[in-house]
Amino acid sequence: MCGIVGYAGPREATDVIVKGLERLEYRGYDSAGIAVLNDGAFTLRRSVGKLGNLRQRLREEPLSGQLGIGHTRWATHGAVTETNAHPHRDSSGKVVVIQNGIVENYLELKNQLLEQGVEFQSQTDTEVIAQLLGRYSHELGDFKRAFAQVMRELRGGNAVVAIHRDHPGLILAARIGNAGAVVVGEGQHENFVASDLPAIVDYTQRMVFLEDGELAVITAEDVSYQTLQGAPLSKTPTVVAWDPVSAAKGGYKHFMQKEIYEQPRTTTDTLRGRVDLEQGSIHLEGLQLSDDELASLERIYAVACGTAWHACLVLKYFVETLARVHVEVDYGSEFRYRNPVFGRNSLLIALTQSGETVDTLAAMAEAREQGVKSLAILNAIGSQAGRLADAGTIYIHSGPEIAVASTKVFTGMLMAGYLFALKLGQARGTLSSDQVREHIQALVEIPGKIDTMLKDFALYEELADRYHNVADMLFLGRWVNAPIALEGALKMKEISYIHAEGYPAGEMKHGPIALIDEQMPVVCIATNDHVYEKMLSNVEQVIARGGRVIALVNPGDTLVRAKAQHVIEVPATTPLLAPVLNVIPMQIFAYAMAVRRGADVDQPRNLAKSVTVE
Ligand code: F6R
Repeated sequence: MCGIVGYAGPREATDVIVKGLERLEYRGYDSAGIAVLNDGAFTLRRSVGKLGNLRQRLREEPLSGQLGIGHTRWATHGAVTETNAHPHRDSSGKVVVIQNGIVENYLELKNQLLEQGVEFQSQTDTEVIAQLLGRYSHELGDFKRAFAQVMRELRGGNAVVAIHRDHPGLILAARIGNAGAVVVGEGQHENFVASDLPAIVDYTQRMVFLEDGELAVITAEDVSYQTLQGAPLSKTPTVVAWDPVSAAKGGYKHFMQKEIYEQPRTTTDTLRGRVDLEQGSIHLEGLQLSDDELASLERIYAVACGTAWHACLVLKYFVETLARVHVEVDYGSEFRYRNPVFGRNSLLIALTQSGETVDTLAAMAEAREQGVKSLAILNAIGSQAGRLADAGTIYIHSGPEIAVASTKVFTGMLMAGYLFALKLGQARGTLSSDQVREHIQALVEIPGKIDTMLKDFALYEELADRYHNVADMLFLGRWVNAPIALEGALKMKEISYIHAEGYPAGEMKHGPIALIDEQMPVVCIATNDHVYEKMLSNVEQVIARGGRVIALVNPGDTLVRAKAQHVIEVPATTPLLAPVLNVIPMQIFAYAMAVRRGADVDQPRNLAKSVTVE
């Protein structure tokens, strides 16, 4: 959500910044803007809509200069207008600011400024920062001290980058709370700042991540770090290995399609170096819990949002089945507000792609306050969740996920969650090495099975042709596949904008069955397990009411095949691992429907990749 890029160095700042913002497009935004220093003054260009509009503005009225900042805005305070787009200036025009996050006390600060006669141009909370910074800079005669003071006065989660006309070579950046990452890229005679690695990883791999309450002082030749209280900090850059080429579409029509196709590799990468088939053991390098600590766990809280929350639901089945530890699943947005009761020997597991989802981070903070450790199953390297996780991390290693709708990271979360459940089961003695060996064997066969599922999209295109005009859909599954029904419905609604509901199939007769008629496609997950016959009954109930059944079945199935209008065959695996395979048709089907409907697959309306506001 919102993107930040800043640059100081010998290159054309506009090129670096706009290219960087393009790399952050996946985060979701509705307007964009840039400020570049030229001839001792900052010139701004802003526009509503996609970056193409800003590029067009810049073609009509070019900006040249070697220092600047740029931003993509996802509106929170004030409508989507050019005036509300960042950067924002103070009334003197000397100070220019961009911000990610929400200034929670902005009204209070704004009222103080209004009383002092300040006139505001926009409705944004960010202009309050610019106006305040302009005032303090003038009063203190020191831009850096003024910036630190403003940051200390803000409440909320904020990443702020500021420049000042009287300090033409300087960019200041700071972070408070959980507004998403602030990454400083240290180059040779040039330095960068951004809200995510892909924006700047083309130029340098030496990255410093700002923590809550830290400030970076950036010029082309030098970067220094300090606290908001002014104490100097020594921070060592992390050398990141992300390949910028892998962030490009690489011949696919959409990032989502590319990411669906990447899953044989990404699921392999999640397993890499972590399974020992000979020994029947699991090695999770980032896990900071001893076997004794694992053995004494009595309760796990799995917390996340959206697709990652569905992964938590599946994790519950994995852990309860394999390790016999009770798992409670919570929405990040609800957890801290329900005053959770933590029992003895509890652990919180946060699942997150970005590692920056504010609600998930807040749940981790809540656990810490109550003395409960957190483990993060996450994808984005260097993100905040990794730093908050005092029980360690299990990186999914899926690489950058650019499409807003999560696909490869979901299967990565399931693979990583399964590894954790095996490790836990072994530590607790619920699984022998022989049993772990059998589970590993099933796990290592998953990537190849996904590969076979990606060979042919024709069936999905036929389905999309047939159903792309429907208004509603239903997704049903039981047991470990109930969360996959929820995920199938979420994928469908977020990228194709078709209203879709996911339910545990047994719930159908308690309400949703009233919706079924001849127009209603119902996706039924009916792969082989101990609830197969129950699922068969649900298929019959749908058909009896005229619904159109699209069924997922394993090879050799005859009973469901005889009833359903459409059948998607999924390779067989163990019943517990079936969700990792069953979600693939959900992803492809949603993708095919969205393409058929001409929707913006990678950047669905109103959605953001990284949700850093409540
Ligand atoms: C949906 C989707 C979102 C995210 C959710 C959590 O396809 O991607 O529902 O799963 O916003 O994001 P992370 O995993 O970054 O915490």
